[in-house]
Amino acid sequence: MSAASLSGRRILVSAGPTYEDIDPVRFLGNRSSGKMGFAIAAAAARRGAQVLLVAGPVSLPTPEGVERIDVRSAAEMHRAVMDALPVDVYIGAAAVADFTPAQVVGDKIKKRPGEEGLVLELVRTRDILAEVASHARRPSLVIGFAAETSHVEEYARGKLERKKLDLICANRVGVPGSGFECDDNTLLVYGAGFEQVLGPASKAELADALLDLVAAR
Ligand code: CTP
Ligand code: CA
Repeated sequence: MSAASLSGRRILVSAGPTYEDIDPVRFLGNRSSGKMGFAIAAAAARRGAQVLLVAGPVSLPTPEGVERIDVRSAAEMHRAVMDALPVDVYIGAAAVADFTPAQVVGDKIKKRPGEEGLVLELVRTRDILAEVASHARRPSLVIGFAAETSHVEEYARGKLERKKLDLICANRVGVPGSGFECDDNTLLVYGAGFEQVLGPASKAELADALLDLVAAR
């Protein structure tokens, strides 16, 4: 069976971590490799979609036929995603920082004699996925990811409803052999009255299985 075509569809994918700068030499990041989002972008392009990939800091080559915009912080990712609307499908596979330093210091933070600790003040970032899903130019399909260490279905379904998504792909992180920094993975996909397990499989195979669900909708 050949893969269902996505010819002519505009698909926006965000992928990778974000880096939130603390000072000119330090940042807050996370362990997302970007592989899942890049695999989705590659698979969508192979199916004939017009793909825009907004990528946080990753060391991955741009998939063939994909237009790529590199960003660093959650705020930059937010801007790039919003600027790309309208699209037919948005897949938010990025591990967006939830908090960012309240102030970016222009000079490197120095230790002072006798200073035994440092308190960093962080503020919430904007929820890109939730904003896309409630945007005036909402894509027909908005798909999120959820990285959970426990209560996977409960937390993922909570995000599905709260953010008004069509589908959410949950994966278990923090257990060996799944999630971040790993090639094989299992995705638990939830929608309203819908549940499907994809994998365990390579991220390339999971990307194709997910795009079958996209094409079916
Ligand atoms: N997300 C986003 N913008 C943010 C935070 C998260 O777009 N500022 C998106 C992610 O790209 C992912 C989904 O929301 O598709 C869920 O991310 P996750 O970190 O699992 O959930 P949060 O809503 O941030 O909740 P928490 O981290 O507290 O579990
Ligand atoms: Ca989060």
